[in-house]
Amino acid sequence: MRRARLSITGRPVVITGAASGIGRSLARRLSGLGSPVAIADVDEAGLKDAAASLPGPVLARVLDVGDADGVLRFAGEVREWLPAPLAAVFNNAGVAVSSTVLDSLPEDDDWLHQINFHGVVNGTRAFLPVLVAQDDGAIVNTSSVFGLVGMPYQSAYCASKFAVRGFTDALRHELRGTGVRAVTVHPGGITTNIARNARIRKDPEGLGRTKEQMAAQFEAITMTSPDKAAAIIHRGVERGRARILVGPDAYLFDALARIAPTHYYDVIARAEPRLRARQGRARDRAS
Ligand SMILES: NC(=O)c1ccc[n+]([C@@H]2O[C@H](COP(=O)([O-])OP(=O)(O)OC[C@H]3O[C@@H](n4cnc5c(N)ncnc54)[C@H](O)[C@@H]3O)[C@@H](O)[C@H]2O)c1
Repeated sequence: MRRARLSITGRPVVITGAASGIGRSLARRLSGLGSPVAIADVDEAGLKDAAASLPGPVLARVLDVGDADGVLRFAGEVREWLPAPLAAVFNNAGVAVSSTVLDSLPEDDDWLHQINFHGVVNGTRAFLPVLVAQDDGAIVNTSSVFGLVGMPYQSAYCASKFAVRGFTDALRHELRGTGVRAVTVHPGGITTNIARNARIRKDPEGLGRTKEQMAAQFEAITMTSPDKAAAIIHRGVERGRARILVGPDAYLFDALARIAPTHYYDVIARAEPRLRARQGRARDRAS
């Protein structure tokens, strides 16, 4: 089926989780290309810094995306501020928890679901009426490759990202025949602060690693920079994609989930140490 293109470049956008990582890169990229950007994050200092670095018009608000009323208030402010019709809403804010299911703490998993899933639902509910009234624009919800495959020690994260995928797919089909799109983003490993900001009570693999060591190991196997991720997401939305895979590892995970729907982890577990060693060598050569 032919995909209708959607031009968002130079048009207003909303981005949550814009103080760091992919959200910050998206804000910088789109602002640099002329888009007025409304950005939100729970990290006040990071948000201030991000806003100050943007070359164009910006509305910045400290916001917890898990607070449905706060997100509705933010949407009201954005509506007042909009210099032109809204082109896209990037429900990007997210966090991680690493734990075995056996040791998982309900308060950590609830914290994550409130942000990763309910934050996406809150952002969609708050901004969808604006896009529907315009009959134009895109809701772009960030899932993960962990919304395509289940990974050990990531049960809450995987559950939240599978939920984002299901929610966004359902929305896409509801929007058939309208000018509004629903887009799911599945990033592979992106070199951001996500692992450093994660809640990890103890090494889930029992290897006694500190959180910093685990974050460094995660970063060693990431394949994509946040700027590159922002470019892929931007291009995917403009091309009218319903689903955007970000990074070579995302294509690999997607293929594995189809080819070996119950045994994909056998392949991943075998490939992981080799990937880690190769990335480490590449980094040593670059430094
Ligand atoms: N980095 C990766 O490898 C990767 C892979 C797949 C998916 N993702 C997803 O990409 C998105 C962006 O993550 P990132 O990698 O850029 O991480 P990051 O930690 O660099 O950025 C996430 C941002 O979200 C903000 N945030 C956290 N809780 C919030 C809340 N309650 N309300 C508002 N903002 C909040 C943080 O303050 C931070 O600025 C997340 O949804 C994440 O799950 C990341």
